[in-house]
Order: sequence, then C-alpha cells, then structure tokens
Amino acid sequence: MLSKKLEKALNNQIKIEAESSQIYLSMASWAEVKGLEGIAGFMYAQSDEEREHMLKLVKYVNERGGHALVPALKAPKSDFGTFQSMFQELLEHEIFVSQSINELVHVTLQEKDYATHNFLQWYVAEQIEEEALARTILDKINLIGNDKGGLYLFDRDVQQITVDSAAGAGPAI
Ligand code: FEO
Repeated sequence: MLSKKLEKALNNQIKIEAESSQIYLSMASWAEVKGLEGIAGFMYAQSDEEREHMLKLVKYVNERGGHALVPALKAPKSDFGTFQSMFQELLEHEIFVSQSINELVHVTLQEKDYATHNFLQWYVAEQIEEEALARTILDKINLIGNDKGGLYLFDRDVQQITVDSAAGAGPAI
C-alpha cells in the first residue's frame, strides 16, 4: 500500500509525464508544418514514449492500492523558434524530468517503500538514456551549423538516432 505522501508524489510525476507528451506533440506539429518531416516523426515518437511513461505510473499507482488521477494539463507553446532551439528545449526538459524522478526516489526512501524504489529504477535508467540522446542530437546539430544540406540530411536521418546510437552503436549521421 502506498503512503499518501508517495501517492501524491507519484501523481505529480504522472502529470509531468503527461505534460512531456503534450510538449513533444506540440514540437512534432510545429516541425511538421515547417516541412521538417523527419524531425516531426522523431517528436511524435517521443510524445508516444512519454505517454507510455505516464501509463506505466498510472497502472503502478492503482496496483499498489492508490488512485492514479488524470490531471488537467498546461497547454504547451506552439512556436519553437528554430529546430536548434527546440532540441535545446528538449534537453532542458529532460533534465527537469530527471530532477523530478530523483526527488521521487528520495521520497521512496523517506517512506521506506522499497518496492516503489525498485519500480522507479527503470525511470532512473531511462532518464540517463533520454538525456544522452538529446545531447547526441545537439552535438550533431552543432556540427551542421547553418548548412542547408546538413539540415536536409539531419531531417532525413534523425528518426534513426535512437538510444542505442547515442551509446555509439547505431548509424552515424
Ligand atoms: Fe518520461 Fe522523457 O521523460
């Protein structure tokens, strides 16, 4: 059974994951109307992943005798300036999510809930990967600079930049 304090903290994380999904969906839509099909595809996939992160938490809270609450969400912005600044925002947002997961892990220790502590290790590992992925993409973007041909290739190949390639195993672009 979850303590009330931990249930509340987990519900807060549900909201953060749901908002992440909305933010990336908005990024996908912005990229799509700019004609950046590859970047849009990447962001649609990120948005779906965040929804999965949220669902996993919803099911866990309910399974442990809590009540997962479906929250009202802030509307994300709809204009991201440039694709470079959009990916910078993606990284900053993932750093924020990592901090939030860390806080949550801290609450599990305070509450001596080792089952939830164990459950959250998946999120801890996922955040390392997501931050690494965002940093890898930003490195590629810095290499391109303002080169239009580079942007064309980046947009074509960005969907193949996965967590594995961020670790050095996948296709180089
Ligand atoms: Fe669910 Fe990208 O953090």
